[in-house]
Amino acid sequence: MCGIIGYVGRASATPVLLGGLRRLEYRGYDSAGMALQEGSELLVARAVGKVAKLSEKIDLTWSEELQGRCTVGIAHTRWATHGAPTEANAHPHRDASQRICLVHNGIIENYRNIRQKLEAKGHVFVSETDTEALSRLVGEFYKGDLRQAVTRALRQVEGAYGIAVMAADEPGVIVAARKGSPLVIGVGEGECLVASDASALVAHTRRVIYLNDGDIALLKADSVQITDIDHAPIERDVADLELEAAAVEKGGFEHFMLKEIHEQPESVRNALRGRIDAQQGTAVLSGMGTSPRELAEIRRIVMVGCGTSLHAGMVGEFAFEELATISSEVQQAAEFRYRNPIVDAHDLVIAISQSGETADTLAAVREAKEKGTMVMGLVNVVGSTIARETGRGVYLHAGPEISVASTKAFTGQVAVLLLMALKLGRSRHLSAERGLAIAQQIQSLPELIEAVLAQNDAIAQVAAVIAPHEHAFFLGRGPMHPVALEGALKLKEISYIHAEGYHAAELKHGPIALLTPGTPVVVIANQSPVVDKVLSNAEECRARGAQVIALVSQTGSAAVADQVIRIPDCDPLVATIPAAVALQLLAYHVARLRGCAIDQPRNLAKSVTVE
Ligand code: AGP
Repeated sequence: MCGIIGYVGRASATPVLLGGLRRLEYRGYDSAGMALQEGSELLVARAVGKVAKLSEKIDLTWSEELQGRCTVGIAHTRWATHGAPTEANAHPHRDASQRICLVHNGIIENYRNIRQKLEAKGHVFVSETDTEALSRLVGEFYKGDLRQAVTRALRQVEGAYGIAVMAADEPGVIVAARKGSPLVIGVGEGECLVASDASALVAHTRRVIYLNDGDIALLKADSVQITDIDHAPIERDVADLELEAAAVEKGGFEHFMLKEIHEQPESVRNALRGRIDAQQGTAVLSGMGTSPRELAEIRRIVMVGCGTSLHAGMVGEFAFEELATISSEVQQAAEFRYRNPIVDAHDLVIAISQSGETADTLAAVREAKEKGTMVMGLVNVVGSTIARETGRGVYLHAGPEISVASTKAFTGQVAVLLLMALKLGRSRHLSAERGLAIAQQIQSLPELIEAVLAQNDAIAQVAAVIAPHEHAFFLGRGPMHPVALEGALKLKEISYIHAEGYHAAELKHGPIALLTPGTPVVVIANQSPVVDKVLSNAEECRARGAQVIALVSQTGSAAVADQVIRIPDCDPLVATIPAAVALQLLAYHVARLRGCAIDQPRNLAKSVTVE
């Protein structure tokens, strides 16, 4: 939701902090700010807009010589939750004395109560944010020991936070704390950093410490001390970061999204590597941590997730029921956590999340654990909170996904769900012969994706048909229904076209009233038992003047379509991945033609760590 970073060391803090903010900008980018320690003073600069605006303001405000002297600082890039994106609402926020600065990711849920109490004591708030209530509360408790003041303030806080705090009277010290919002510490040579995620640290160190909820860390140039809120010391391992610095660069592509779309043959190859037993026609997923007996005792699978991850779960539902004949369902994570879900020890709950930090999905994990279910994570970011709190599951190995619009995470999630369904199926009724056939098709996914990527130019031409419109529909049946939803989500979130995904049979039950001559309707008509029905639905749209854009198999009929995108012939479950790649490219080219900010769309953030 927001990105925070702190640096304490011997180098100039400004370039380290700005570089870190640029890596974190995908988490939120409506305003940004920085605080530097200069002797016994704190200097603050804030700006509305992206990090580049803050950088301009810093160069106008602080001389290079001054910046060179300041080796301790904190910084923040914001996705607004309380109060509009203005300079007054931008972080860092200060206490009444103006001698304590704080940056925050998360939501202080009882901030109004805290604010009222402080205003009754004479505080005059200068922003609309929840964060200012916390910064002022820390100041209230500050008596010369910043860590103690922070812990006393946090005892009064309800909600989620990842914070970094500095005090003018304690040079060379940063206090960091997390509860519900991620924080990772980087341990360098004579320097320490703290950030919302590891992508901001990888240019400086590969030695990292993942903080857990309730941890409070005191950072100095040469030391990190971690305690709990009662000051009891806590030991945390120093891990080696797997991330490569190059992995968070664009690599010659115009946008991270295009890079990540084209990475999918490799990212899916990584997701499959070492996980297919081609002899037995099954999958090898040691991360599931389950015995054959535990697998056999699973009576139902419930997948929880949000957005694209929810759509991946919807594909998984078809895979589990078809290949493993296990009753399966998908629940939007925010619903699951509040509906008092009917799950028990015979159920497997799979939390699907690229970031591993989505607040609603994390809360669903905690609710499922309370109900005694078996819980697993299907996560991309190693060491993320969901990965650690589920304790078992399957990593996607897709590499960092920087673009806000999720692409390679989706295809990685679906690929792993197919593997899980294959494994569960072979532990039950799926024959070795069918298992082998499915395993071979899954194994060929990188080549199937490459076949779609090779049509990039043709898809760009189809995009020109959609780009002038403000409304579009995506239709599919069976496992292609969630792919239609995903295609619509991609288009709406990066091109701002109002796109709706519908079950192909559903359109005539009302939404078809919206069709006007020329409305683009994307129909996923791959080879499947219901392809004729889908083509009939496409005819119904065409009869009302719609422009039909059909995704059809290499050998399929395209008579109904005004525009055709060919996808490889393969099992309908497996075909969901090449179809999704085609729709990702389609959305990308439409957004590019419309001149949109593809990697950082308006109003969005990469990781939604608040409710
Ligand atoms: C996908 O394009 C969106 N950016 C968004 O829906 C995302 O999938 C959702 O917020 C879930 O994120 P997660 O996978 O990190 O939990």
